[in-house]
Amino acid sequence: MPSPTHPKPETQNIASLLKEGRTFPPSPEFVANAKVQGMEGYKALYEEAKSNPDAFWAKQAGELQWIKPFEKVLTWNEPHARWFEGGTLNASINCVDRHLKGPNRNKAAIIWEGEPGDSRVLTYQMLHREVCQFANGLKLLGMKSGDRATIYMPLIPEAVVAMLACARLGIVHSVVFGGFSAEAVAERTKDAGATLVITADGGYRRGKSIPLKANVDDALNRCPDVAKCVVYKRTGEPVQMKPSRDIWWHDLVQGVEAHCEPAAMESEDPLFILYTSGSTGKPKGILHTTAGYLLGASYSHRMVFDLRDDDVYWCTADIGWITGHSYVVYGPLCNGSTLMLYEGAPDFPAKDRFWEIIAKYGVSVFYTAPTAIRAFIKWGDELPAKHDLSSLRLLGTVGEPINPEAWIWFHEKIGKGRCPIVDTWWQTETGAIMIAPLPGAVPTKPGSATLPLPGIIAEVVDKKGNPVGDNEGGYLVISRPWPSMLRTIFNDDARYRSAYWETVPNVYFTADGARRDQDGYLWIMGRVDDVLNVAGHRLSTMEVESALVNHPSVAEAAAVGRPDEIKGEGIVVFVTLKQGKIADDKLKQALREHVSKEIGALARPDEVRFAESLPKTRSGKIMRRLLRDIASGNQTTGDTTTLEDLSVLAKLRDDEE
Ligand code: WTA
Repeated sequence: MPSPTHPKPETQNIASLLKEGRTFPPSPEFVANAKVQGMEGYKALYEEAKSNPDAFWAKQAGELQWIKPFEKVLTWNEPHARWFEGGTLNASINCVDRHLKGPNRNKAAIIWEGEPGDSRVLTYQMLHREVCQFANGLKLLGMKSGDRATIYMPLIPEAVVAMLACARLGIVHSVVFGGFSAEAVAERTKDAGATLVITADGGYRRGKSIPLKANVDDALNRCPDVAKCVVYKRTGEPVQMKPSRDIWWHDLVQGVEAHCEPAAMESEDPLFILYTSGSTGKPKGILHTTAGYLLGASYSHRMVFDLRDDDVYWCTADIGWITGHSYVVYGPLCNGSTLMLYEGAPDFPAKDRFWEIIAKYGVSVFYTAPTAIRAFIKWGDELPAKHDLSSLRLLGTVGEPINPEAWIWFHEKIGKGRCPIVDTWWQTETGAIMIAPLPGAVPTKPGSATLPLPGIIAEVVDKKGNPVGDNEGGYLVISRPWPSMLRTIFNDDARYRSAYWETVPNVYFTADGARRDQDGYLWIMGRVDDVLNVAGHRLSTMEVESALVNHPSVAEAAAVGRPDEIKGEGIVVFVTLKQGKIADDKLKQALREHVSKEIGALARPDEVRFAESLPKTRSGKIMRRLLRDIASGNQTTGDTTTLEDLSVLAKLRDDEE
């Protein structure tokens, strides 16, 4: 593992971040209407939470709707936390039913636009009806509390309905991103022990339809435990229906009652599993439980987006990622927000689709990823300039460090210098935003996620857990349990301990490098493990490598990241071939496609390079740092399909690794 002071070579980024000295305080008008006003407001709340965390979280938990109140705030038995024991509640009551008594009843819960331009609005009352009917349908299929279901859907309202219907019955959902391959669906479905898959015939992406059901058919050949598959008709493309297993969504809910009693779930009952990449090849099933997760998602959503009743709030993430779980579904709905949902690509049919949507629906909060912002910059300033973006009042980013240039562009061209930007740091594992400015309180600095939220204790330390000095690089750790923390890795508690609790003693290890500046602001420097961040999505180098070595031509492979202007990181793979296999462009292309088929298009390598052998240390470890340097162009050995001889370089570097 590289030391945190020498993390992966996003060094250019870090160097420019180090030079960044601008600060942007919120405007007096923004502060005047904010929930938490000025630094004094932030500091008071932070201190309140720090001095008596149990009381602080108990107070916040009072915002949830409980079936039975909890008796104890936290039982901490490192590394296992139990929050709000004794209480029962249901996530779908909190996200839907609670809004039916009062002015939110007929408020839009979801404003949805499909990629082809079709659109729908679901009020809270309508959402309630759909969730109840679908939950009753799931009951008819024999599903019950504690069972697991895979959800593999396009970004349509029914994806949200499916999640909430599962939650209503206590079925643990595992959403698999619609861009992942059949292979990925099969692996996750098997690991979770899911007995049901909820999918659609297809979904739209850049005008084409993605064959979701066909992928599920392929996946289910390898998943004998899946008894039922519900299929929503979205595209109308022909699909195969296996009569004993498959049922159309519309047939399932036909004539079904629109009342469904929600299950009383214990606080610590699982709500969902979400798979994410770690340092090794196999994705980790991150397990989140009901009360703590819901509290983390709703509290942070309310605070960080300084929520107002009349907001039209748009988080552009897909529900296949944690951002979609916490800030498309659970956080906003729990808070009774109106959320914008858009099915398709930002550049379809034209590259101003997002700006058109913001203008059309009067979006007021816009939360997106730095990689998208960098693409917008490339597409040209005239596109946002063509649209009325005056409804916006707050902007946000997530997924990777934002380079100051992109931050400034976002601030000027989208926010017109008026809207604060919340750069939010968090992870699948943390469940909710951990480090971000409260926008009416904390002045922002481009490139910094600023300060931890009240209730969160984040530190930058060395391997032994000792705090490092101001502006020195170290590991970012969280030193106190928080409600929405992951509880374990599904079926692998040993990996949970070793991945998060054994690197630095007594604290949660984030695997991110960071520094804290003289004002206490945190600057995230990127991962210190073998996790790649491609367009804000996590992939492990080993996942890509194991996909490659199961191609018949490949003997050995190493995948590394290299800086990419748009995606943050791109993937370069070095491959040695089996005896007699020909290194040519055709094989390069075949290998790129192979990885894409095994994992999904987002894992497709940007470049394939053939090598005679991979550079290794005397002890046999692949010299990744050397490969990263070569991949990022710091050392070139020529191009094309000729076999690169990396052994000389390896010899030169051997002593370093
Ligand atoms: C990175 C996404 C810098 C980080 C919510 C983290 C960030 C990983 C930021 C988690 C940010 C996320 N600034 N880096 N604002 N947000 N990251 O699990 O490396 O998909 O560990 O969760 O993304 O990715 P994940």
